[in-house]
Amino acid sequence: MKAKETIVLTGDRPTGRLHFGHFVGSIRNRLKLQEESKMYYMIADAQALTDNAENPEKVRANVLEVALDNLACGLDPAKATMFIQSTIPEIAELALYFLNLVTLARAQRNPTVKDEMKQKGFGADVPLGFLAYPISQAADILCVKANRIPVGNDQLPMIEQANEIAEKFNRLYGDTFPHVEAVTSISPRLPGLDGKAKMSKSLDNAIYLADTREEVERKVMLMYTDPKHIHVDEPGHVDGNTVFEYLDVFDTKTEEVADLKKQYKKGGLGDVVLKKRLAAVLNEILDPVRTRRSKLAEDPDAVMHILKAGSEKTRKAVQETMEEVKRGMHINYFTH
Ligand code: TRP
Repeated sequence: MKAKETIVLTGDRPTGRLHFGHFVGSIRNRLKLQEESKMYYMIADAQALTDNAENPEKVRANVLEVALDNLACGLDPAKATMFIQSTIPEIAELALYFLNLVTLARAQRNPTVKDEMKQKGFGADVPLGFLAYPISQAADILCVKANRIPVGNDQLPMIEQANEIAEKFNRLYGDTFPHVEAVTSISPRLPGLDGKAKMSKSLDNAIYLADTREEVERKVMLMYTDPKHIHVDEPGHVDGNTVFEYLDVFDTKTEEVADLKKQYKKGGLGDVVLKKRLAAVLNEILDPVRTRRSKLAEDPDAVMHILKAGSEKTRKAVQETMEEVKRGMHINYFTH
């Protein structure tokens, strides 16, 4: 019957405002998927706290910011149910049962967690909640029986772990959870302004969706190009040139970009001309987002109301799953 229905779940950690990397990596995918399928959008505040236990105010403030970023980009609460993770205690409950299905060795093998632990210098002092966040993320996904998850490549290990947990649960307690499929981004990963592999807040190399026109122009002018291209009339490199990587992703006039590349390689085309073009292209994308964002930001209560209604709706669906879970696990004491 409904067993094959596509259910999409996607989420952000509320640890900072969203940037163009998020826009390319996940938001554009979300906007497409909300038109096609049933969709949940989660603000993963409990997950954000796994490495921000000392900064609850930061997480709290960014719940509103990421909601605004997504709404401003066109996420539509009538199509995508938007909710806050911690308002659904059943997710924590499900995660607790999932913890029994995963060994310490397996948790320590998750390559994304390993990288993040190294970055944060945790070593043996890693908070258990952090080490276990992929297990909690499996609960995020499976609590609504989501089967399609739009993610960046760094999240693929989470999907793999969710599937292992779902399979083990199904084997032990009866068929309950679907197989989860990752939907990876259509575009390649966007480098940071400095040409480093990734745009990120901690590397301070990001253009934010809430940046003003002037901020975008200023940041694009700082962008890494070809360090050997000093004089305009000398030939320049297009490969590894961040400005061209961005134009490839965002400039819809592909023929003009191809011509510019030719000129740049031959010599006679300066970085400033290209950067002005890129800033204009990015600002054209951001103008309507900025307008919507500032309008929405005037009424934060209305945004919180959207999240409240979405959380209530999600919780009902999760409670249905939990009845099944508890039946399977023989802990449904007072129901029959
Ligand atoms: N870990 C994800 C990130 O850092 C956020 C997230 C939390 C998520 N729960 C999720 C993503 C469930 C997809 C599905 O971006």
